[in-house]
Amino acid sequence: MRVTITINGEPVSGDVEPRQLLVHFIRDTAGLTGTHWGCDTSNCGACVVLMDGKPVKSCTTLAAMCEGHEIRTVESLEVDGQLDPVQMGFHELHALHCGFCTPGMLMTTRALLDANPDPTEHEIRTAISGAICRCTGYKNIVAAVRWAAEHEATTRQEA
Ligand code: FES
Ligand code: FES
Repeated sequence: MRVTITINGEPVSGDVEPRQLLVHFIRDTAGLTGTHWGCDTSNCGACVVLMDGKPVKSCTTLAAMCEGHEIRTVESLEVDGQLDPVQMGFHELHALHCGFCTPGMLMTTRALLDANPDPTEHEIRTAISGAICRCTGYKNIVAAVRWAAEHEATTRQEA
């Protein structure tokens, strides 16, 4: 079947089997390999993208279900060479080591800050509870999200 999915604002069309997963459509059809494919069982969170602004695990979302929806991947965060505050926070606070979990963490936390610009540590830990990091440790990740929240608040005040 033929589907057209809007990914990072651009329509991407492809022939898919009804069972094809969104993560494979993103990586293989759209050629956007920033979204990682880890466990394939909805456990690790490496594959998280935003669908209409809400985080979804693209390893358990069928591509055919996404027609008519807006998908946003990690590649959309940086705009014209300017990193998104969550990317800046992860860089500033050393919130990644191998980086495998990072695309999913970034998209999960982007959605969190869009919905809740001033999250507590508990709210951050709850938001990322569906994402597993095996090597950084969550302390720096939580600190990075707080850094991003504070940076965005400052930017809003200056605007
Ligand atoms: S690859 Fe999707 S949750 Fe692990
Ligand atoms: S940075 Fe290695 S799994 Fe998170």
